[in-house]
Formats: sequence, C-alpha cells, structure tokens
Amino acid sequence: MAGLVAEGVSLTYAGVGRDTVALDRLDLSVAEGEPVAVIGPSGCGKSTLLLLASGMLHPDAGSLRVGGEPVTGPRLATALILQDFGLLPWKTVFHNAALGLEVRHVPRAERLERVMTSLTRVGLAEFVDAYPGELSGGMRQRLAVARALALNADLLLMDEPLSALDALTREDLQDLLLELWRQRRHTCVLVTHSIEEAVFLGRRVLVLSPRPGRVAAVVDNPRMGEPGYRATQEFYERCVELRRLLAEEGALGALVGHETGRVDAGESA
Ligand SMILES: Nc1ncnc2c1ncn2[C@@H]1O[C@H](COP(=O)(O)OP(=O)(O)OP(=O)(O)O)[C@@H](O)[C@H]1O
Ligand SMILES: [Mg+2]
Repeated sequence: MAGLVAEGVSLTYAGVGRDTVALDRLDLSVAEGEPVAVIGPSGCGKSTLLLLASGMLHPDAGSLRVGGEPVTGPRLATALILQDFGLLPWKTVFHNAALGLEVRHVPRAERLERVMTSLTRVGLAEFVDAYPGELSGGMRQRLAVARALALNADLLLMDEPLSALDALTREDLQDLLLELWRQRRHTCVLVTHSIEEAVFLGRRVLVLSPRPGRVAAVVDNPRMGEPGYRATQEFYERCVELRRLLAEEGALGALVGHETGRVDAGESA
C-alpha cells in the first residue's frame, strides 16, 4: 500500500532578506501502483515536492500520506533518486548500490544478494569494484536505479533521473524503467522536463504551474506502457496536448535550457 496523497501542502524557504514560496497549497493524489509523471517550469517546486514526499523535508502547512500513513520522516520502502544521482565518488559501485540497505541496517548476507540482483538487473554486475568516476553517465544513472531497486521500494520518487544522458541512452533507460515498473508495479513519481519522457512513463502526467507550483492540468494517458507506444499516433497526440498545456501555463519558455519535447511534425495544435 503506497499511494501518495498531498493535501494543501505549502513550503517556503527562508533566505537572507528573501523568502521563496516554493509550494502553495498543493494537492495531488497518486494511486497505489500508479506511475505518474510531473512536468513544469524550472523552479516551480518539483524537487521540493519529492523531498517532501520522501520525508526529507517537512511542509509548513498541509499534510502528506503514503499508504495512508502520515509522512513524518524517511520511510523504509520509499526510494528517492536525486537530480544529481547522489552517488558517493569514494565508494565502489557495490557499496553505492548497497547504501540504502546499509543505512537501513539490512543484514550483510541479504544485502549482498539484493545488491547483486539489482546490479545484474541493470547490467552492472561486472563493475561491482569500479568507482563512479570510472563509469559513463548512463552507467552512473543505472547505478542510481540499482540502488533504488535494491530497496524493493513500493514508492519510487525520481527527480529528472535521465536528463544528463544522450538521446539513445536515455531511451534505453526509459525502457528499463518501464520494464521495472511492469514487473514490480510500484507507485512511481517521475519529475522530468521532457514531454516525450512524461508521456512514455506517466499513466497520468501532472502539469505544474510556475512557482509556487500547483497542479494546473492533468493529462490522462491510458495507453502508457503498451508495446510500441512511442511509435503510435496516440503517443504523438498526447505529446502535442501536453505541449499545448505547458504553453498555456506559460511554462514552455521557462523550460529554458531543458528539452521541451518539440515534436518534429510541427505545430498542429
Ligand atoms: N534550499 C533552498 N533554499 C532556498 N531556496 C530554495 C532551496 N531549494 C529550492 N529553493 C527555491 O525554491 C524554488 C523551488 O525549487 P525546486 O528545486 O523545488 O524547483 P524545481 O521545480 O525542482 O526546479 P528545476 O526544474 O530547476 O529542478 C526555487 O525558486 C528555488 O530557488
Ligand atoms: Mg528540481
């Protein structure tokens, strides 16, 4: 049971001489086992939302629940993949993948088995003794996914996990994330700046408004996960719809520096 519900969530960062309202009375609900993508302009509070859902930050107002339980701090079965992967350069691939289990005091033998299973799953079994600095960007990303997998998480929170990758590696890892979700059916919240990635990996796509972020629109995407979906007319139409909604939010300009998911066939909407 790991659906995620946020009700009236607000968070303001106190700064020197200036406070920043990151989120203001945000509501959202992700069903158990549902993969949801979140897209919105830079600075609208997406990372803040994930930190709140993971229990690493606490809201000033409102509440968050996972599986019906209030989020009061980090939870054993919630995995968070951070924007910069959160890998420790001085630890080997094995120990980076084991980190979540180590801090949760999982016994050594079980740790070994779960970490090796996860690393094998993402194709890194041969690299257990390597250090992150010896890996390519795609491999580092797979390592971050392996760490989350080793936790057997029922809630997977991902903050732009694939944004640093070239297009082909990125599609490859999108396929991996989809396959893992198909097998495990965890609840999933993926923050992304890519329209196509959101439509590929989100059963629903939540569009956030500029800061302070609120859910401005929701795109239903019922065929997400079907084989060959990327090549269908339906996929293309969902991308166009999402692009239009982002434009309405004035968010396209604010996706500056990020891929905006412009679809080659031109502006049909
Ligand atoms: N630790 C912090 N201290 C002060 N302000 C912060 C802090 N973290 C974030 N902010 C501010 O809160 C707002 C929301 O930040 P957040 O990182 O959640 O945005 P985001 O939607 O994830 O942006 P991006 O798409 O660029 O990653 C921004 O205006 C940011 O400057
Ligand atoms: Mg962010």
